[in-house]
Amino acid sequence: MPAYAVIGGQWGDEGKGKVIDYLAGKVDSVVRYAGGNNAGHTVVNDRGKFELHLIPSGICWEGVSGIIGNGVVVDPEGLLSELDGLGSRGVDTSLLYVSERAHVIMPYHIVLDELEEKAKGVNAVGTTGRGIGPTYVDKVSRVGIRIGDLLDIKGVLVPRLEQALSFKNALFTKVYEVEPVNLDDILAKCRVWADRLAPHIQPTEQIIQDLLAGDKSILLEGAQGTLLDVDHGSYPYVTSSSPSIGGACIGLGLNPQEIAGVVAVFKAYSTRVGSGPMPSELLGDFADELREKAHEYGTTTGRARRVGWFDAVAARYSRLVNGLTGMVLTRLDILDGFSAVKICVGYEVDGQRIDRFPSNTGLLERCQPVYEEHPGWDQPTASATDVSHLPANALSYVRRIEELVGCQIQIISTGPSREETILVHEIIPG
Ligand code: GDP
Ligand code: IMO
Ligand code: MG
Repeated sequence: MPAYAVIGGQWGDEGKGKVIDYLAGKVDSVVRYAGGNNAGHTVVNDRGKFELHLIPSGICWEGVSGIIGNGVVVDPEGLLSELDGLGSRGVDTSLLYVSERAHVIMPYHIVLDELEEKAKGVNAVGTTGRGIGPTYVDKVSRVGIRIGDLLDIKGVLVPRLEQALSFKNALFTKVYEVEPVNLDDILAKCRVWADRLAPHIQPTEQIIQDLLAGDKSILLEGAQGTLLDVDHGSYPYVTSSSPSIGGACIGLGLNPQEIAGVVAVFKAYSTRVGSGPMPSELLGDFADELREKAHEYGTTTGRARRVGWFDAVAARYSRLVNGLTGMVLTRLDILDGFSAVKICVGYEVDGQRIDRFPSNTGLLERCQPVYEEHPGWDQPTASATDVSHLPANALSYVRRIEELVGCQIQIISTGPSREETILVHEIIPG
């Protein structure tokens, strides 16, 4: 059986967690391939509300395994507290597997994330402060520590940590002029992590291949969003991994031909947390009204999210770099009751019209949105479960987005709960 992917189409927080939880009952395994606990995926179902950061969002379904792939960076402390939190609420996590090749977010990566952000001053990225960037940097620099290393403390972990700390402590003491990191303190933590995580640490590439070969289906869970991708996003205001679909092949050891569908989740408007260009951003009273109505505050950091109208130029770009086979539109209900809604259909810079998402971040920052205005709707879309329940204006708004992006909308989400969902076209057959 093939794999299906649900990824972020915008700047993250599109509602991926909700959609994955809705779809996960149809698959055997839900798999994370990139990012770390910078992600915050909210799931609301008959078992309650869950905020997941590392554990895949299918965890509430009995018998559905969760896999954290090699492309993910794992903060063991964060993972253990998530496992404890789920356990205390009666959620079974025995089918949670973590790749032995996934890199460990060490306490010194978190310190470094903060120091680097401070040093960047006005150019700070506005990271989540979870140590994501420094961990990926160490991976690529070949001085990272992998989860599997925790299981061979004397043979692998100690020498690798000694090497890593020689670099880090030189940086801490000579450049940042802060206290060095103590090897024994870190080793003590590693021993606790190893003891508790050992049953979950597995060769996940093999598990995934066995599932697919055994006629089982898997759902790939994207984190962040395409416009935060280190290659395809608004660099340097991006995360340090590849949330776009390409990241799934590398981050899991997956043959691209196994991926039967790539669906991106989009909010019916836009949000962004942290710095960087956002051409359709709204400021002022209306932005505040929208933010409060939608409660747009980050799941991971609690920061206020920037808000804006739906950006069809950026969405088309997202379709292009992911080869999207479908879209999911979430939070349509948030737009209920506005007298008019707008869609950004192009950009203008120095009197010139731009219809493509530019790679030059300076240029993107100067892009002014060209809007198309649509009449709003009085009747609610909130909690609708069938297209026929949508007010005519809401439906034409949805159809116009479909037309502008050039991609079919397969699910419309009308509330945070699993059942507040309109399935327009089946994503996972069977
Ligand atoms: P993710 O990171 O993409 O999983 O998204 P987050 O969980 O960070 O943020 C999405 C927020 O929107 C969460 O609070 C969800 O519970 C909520 N949500 C998801 N879909 C809908 C929807 O259709 N309507 C409303 N009102 N809320 C939604
Ligand atoms: P989910 O999976 C929204 C943003 C941060 C910052 C930039 C880099 O919940 O959609 P990082 O800590 O990754 O180095 O920060 O990326 N960011 C997210 N924004 N949703 C996320 O995840 C995000 N993960 C990272 O705000 O701008
Ligand atoms: Mg989120």
